[in-house]
Amino acid sequence: MIAAQTPRELIFSDVLSDIGPAALAVEGSLPGWLRGAFVRNGSARYGFGPIQFCHWFDGMAFLQRFEFGEGRLEYTGRFIRSKSYEAAVDGRAEYQSFATPAARSFGSWIAGVTSSNITDNTNVNVVRYGDASVALTEIGAPRCFDPQTLETGDLLKFNDDLGTGPTTAHPVRTGERWVNFSLKPGLRSKYFVWSLSGSGPRNVIARIPSKRPAYIHSMGASRRYAILIEYPYRFDPLAMILGGKPYIENFHWSGGETLIHLIDLTGSDAPVTCAAEPFFCFHHVNAFDDGDCVVVDLVGYDDASIVSDLYLDRVRERAPVAAGLSLRRYRVPCNGQDATRETLSDTRMELPRVDVRSERPRYVYAPRIGEVDAFTDGVLQIDTASASQRVWERQDESPGEAVFVPNPGGNGETDGVVLFVALNAKHKRSALVVLDADTFEERARAWAPAMLPLGFHGQFWRA
Ligand SMILES: [Fe+2]
Repeated sequence: MIAAQTPRELIFSDVLSDIGPAALAVEGSLPGWLRGAFVRNGSARYGFGPIQFCHWFDGMAFLQRFEFGEGRLEYTGRFIRSKSYEAAVDGRAEYQSFATPAARSFGSWIAGVTSSNITDNTNVNVVRYGDASVALTEIGAPRCFDPQTLETGDLLKFNDDLGTGPTTAHPVRTGERWVNFSLKPGLRSKYFVWSLSGSGPRNVIARIPSKRPAYIHSMGASRRYAILIEYPYRFDPLAMILGGKPYIENFHWSGGETLIHLIDLTGSDAPVTCAAEPFFCFHHVNAFDDGDCVVVDLVGYDDASIVSDLYLDRVRERAPVAAGLSLRRYRVPCNGQDATRETLSDTRMELPRVDVRSERPRYVYAPRIGEVDAFTDGVLQIDTASASQRVWERQDESPGEAVFVPNPGGNGETDGVVLFVALNAKHKRSALVVLDADTFEERARAWAPAMLPLGFHGQFWRA
């Protein structure tokens, strides 16, 4: 464990144990309608004696829960007791993760030699599949957990033959079902785009072959189409089998065109593929149908160098270069012509969220990426209709993902609150912050009993 001092070092420092349950005192006022739990996931520990994970995405999964009840707010944080976690605690480097080498390679997994050494560290997101609350990552099965206590449960079995990925930890909701894909890598690699109702089995909507599959972190969906984007950041399955490198080191930026696949959600029409400029993206924001086009909003980069910039030795030291980082809108013709781009905001941001009730949400919420001292230094509310934006910022505070929670009895897209956790580097404490989405002013905060990790993604689950 490093002795963290700078804001960047604090953000990417280790949480050493579970926290709480603990009652939190609230400064300000919470809306009476805010009842439920804000559940988050993310990396929280990178060092276990001789075991040192080298990338932000490799930290051990730490679930956090802020429960809003009648006149009370309670916090719980718990590590997921995966096999990977237990091995790290025991000082064993047995499990292959995103970027940290292990005893055996990802190639052996693709070759089917040892499927049991792939990480089960589900540290990226949480979702509810039917009655199951699960933690997700990009490779491996979802991990069930108790949504009240955060205690670790079993791996979720979908009861189908689609395998465990690579996939995304960002299933996208469309109507009553979830949509995602699973890649079956090999000499004839294919993406299997699937939909899910309840907790399984998954229903295959389309099969898309790819000689050199891409690193794909999330998908989009309009009412008519699922959107799968292959960035020119691809890997050769054979080289992965033979090379013995950590997963992400197999991907290479070619600078070639990006391919955007539109997949008819009814499964009746064949997928349409459009070309676009070379770009890279972690996170889709939203997509909607617009006449003969699908409009795809996402946070894009000019290349994939952001992945390298998130190695811990770099991200603890300096701001990512993140060339071209911007909120972008791609218009994708349904007839397969080339996609075109416009920039909605060139403010540096990541981890975007919207009001998921709306087909065309007007506002995007996202932490602002800092230029100098801190990794993040504000929360943005971007008005995509007027191209204006507002920002919450507070001295010495770095926020994580900001989640909009609508007032269930309210009117309008800003009738609600925005929830996020901010780390105060000066006081070495974290707070849950509650913004009024209409004024974008802070209306409440509650200090946690410890510094909390920035984390990745979370959801508000209404009581
Ligand atoms: Fe993500």
